[in-house]
Amino acid sequence: MLSIMDGGGGGARSRRKARMLQFATLVFAVFLVFLGEFVVGQSSTYVRPPKAPAKSDAVEKHLQERKSLTASTDPDQMHISLAGPGQMKVTWVTSSAVPATVQYGTTSGHYTNIASGVTKQYSFVLYESDLIHDVILGPLNPSTTYFYKCGGFGAEFNFTTPPPSGPNVPIKFAVVGDLGQTDWTATTLEHLAGYDYDVLLFPGDLSYADTWQPLWDSFGQMMSPYANYRPWMVTEGNHEIEDVPLLVESFLSYNTRWEMPYNESGSTSNLYYSFEVAGVHILMLGSYADFDTNSAQFEWLQADLEKVDRTKTPWLIALLHAPWYNSNSAHQGEGDAMMEAMESTLYAAKVDIMFAGHVHAYERAERAYLKKPDPCGILYITIGDGGNREGLAGTWLDPQPVWSVFRESSFGHGELEIVNATHAYWSWNRNQDHIPVMADDVWITSLSAAQSGCTSKSTTGAIQSQNVDDSNWEL
Ligand SMILES: *[C@@H]1O[C@H](CO)[C@@H](O)[C@H](O)[C@H]1NC(C)=O
Ligand SMILES: *[C@@H]1O[C@H](CO)[C@@H](O)[C@H](O)[C@H]1NC(C)=O
Ligand SMILES: *[C@@H]1O[C@H](CO)[C@@H](O)[C@H](O)[C@H]1NC(C)=O
Ligand SMILES: [Fe+2]
Repeated sequence: MLSIMDGGGGGARSRRKARMLQFATLVFAVFLVFLGEFVVGQSSTYVRPPKAPAKSDAVEKHLQERKSLTASTDPDQMHISLAGPGQMKVTWVTSSAVPATVQYGTTSGHYTNIASGVTKQYSFVLYESDLIHDVILGPLNPSTTYFYKCGGFGAEFNFTTPPPSGPNVPIKFAVVGDLGQTDWTATTLEHLAGYDYDVLLFPGDLSYADTWQPLWDSFGQMMSPYANYRPWMVTEGNHEIEDVPLLVESFLSYNTRWEMPYNESGSTSNLYYSFEVAGVHILMLGSYADFDTNSAQFEWLQADLEKVDRTKTPWLIALLHAPWYNSNSAHQGEGDAMMEAMESTLYAAKVDIMFAGHVHAYERAERAYLKKPDPCGILYITIGDGGNREGLAGTWLDPQPVWSVFRESSFGHGELEIVNATHAYWSWNRNQDHIPVMADDVWITSLSAAQSGCTSKSTTGAIQSQNVDDSNWEL
């Protein structure tokens, strides 16, 4: 049950929580013992040295860090996310009641503004969450560092807003999926921190709590140092569903803790939404929301695509969890139904890149459509290799499909640098021991660019907004 309130009760739950967390750590350790060895994809020449299984140290370390917090009013489990234009949402958790307010300003220690928001709390069978605060700051200036303090307590934090809107504005995205909270995750996070990105894109499977709610708390703690100063934009994976029939509605924890700007983008569900930043329009689709051609998600998608103006946002990118182009034996065909419903619409809209997770490996496809290489199709990338406790997916289909360019079973992260209106540079960096090693890269030309040869007859070089009729999706 979810409740929203102005203030609320506080700290008496902490001892019960500590016991639940100890038990969670034990359960977690048992999971980790079963993790397997690494296997290398056929098209990669990298031979991974054998590695010991991950330990449960990461979870323990973050629980210790939490204990070292000085007060129950201090912000914990922080993350920030883009809200409407010129806005940033700050989310944090406290175990005692604090005002849902954020003081902020452009000079450290000097807060010229204060914004207020809401406090939420949810119950999950016997678990009762701490207080989850959501506050939207703005209007903010682009490319500006703001210093902020949550609820009037604890340390000062800061973030830098993304670059301004504009078709030629460079911007850097980090891309990571299926993160979990293992030692492998910790390595991926360290590597991500070394990349000076503006916005993180996350195609689902966050905490791997799998209904054990204290793992959402430890995940929030582990992400906090990385997500409290760079915006993280997420969409849901299957591990976020967590429905307990008759007791808990699905996505309760995910929707309460990771509320994305769905209302701001005209969606009625946190499971799919869109946002724009610099010269990029990003569709965050929901693999686990209805997607049929008569679904609310499909209706929203069509309306959202109509709003896309490629002269303002020459780049059109989509994210979802279950990949449509996947030549790993894991999760084969799981994205097919959604692909059948939506691929022609996204193809007609000239989506440049689609990122997926779910398969715990990295794979890059050529631009493709209907499972055939197509120079005006979507460039499909699977990046479900953030480092979760289930380990890597090491078995690939043989022969490698014609559309599959590069595939490898290693943990890692992606970096997408939008250079200008027409060019972007993508690289995938495997976690080779403790050094990120760039293992696959490609220059990408936007389908909205004249030189792609894929623009419509429109003389401006812009893609006209797509209004796909029914015949287009009956393949
Ligand atoms: C902003 O926060 C980051 C991460 O906590 C920190 O490393 C950095 O020094 C801070 N920047 C400023 C200008 O205080
Ligand atoms: C949702 O969006 C609409 C339209 O932008 C706005 O009027 C409304 O206040 C928003 N609701 C919330 C709860 O933010
Ligand atoms: C865009 O960037 C690419 C790659 O750096 C460069 O070759 C191209 O000339 C740039 N286009 C414009 C219009 O600046
Ligand atoms: Fe998944």
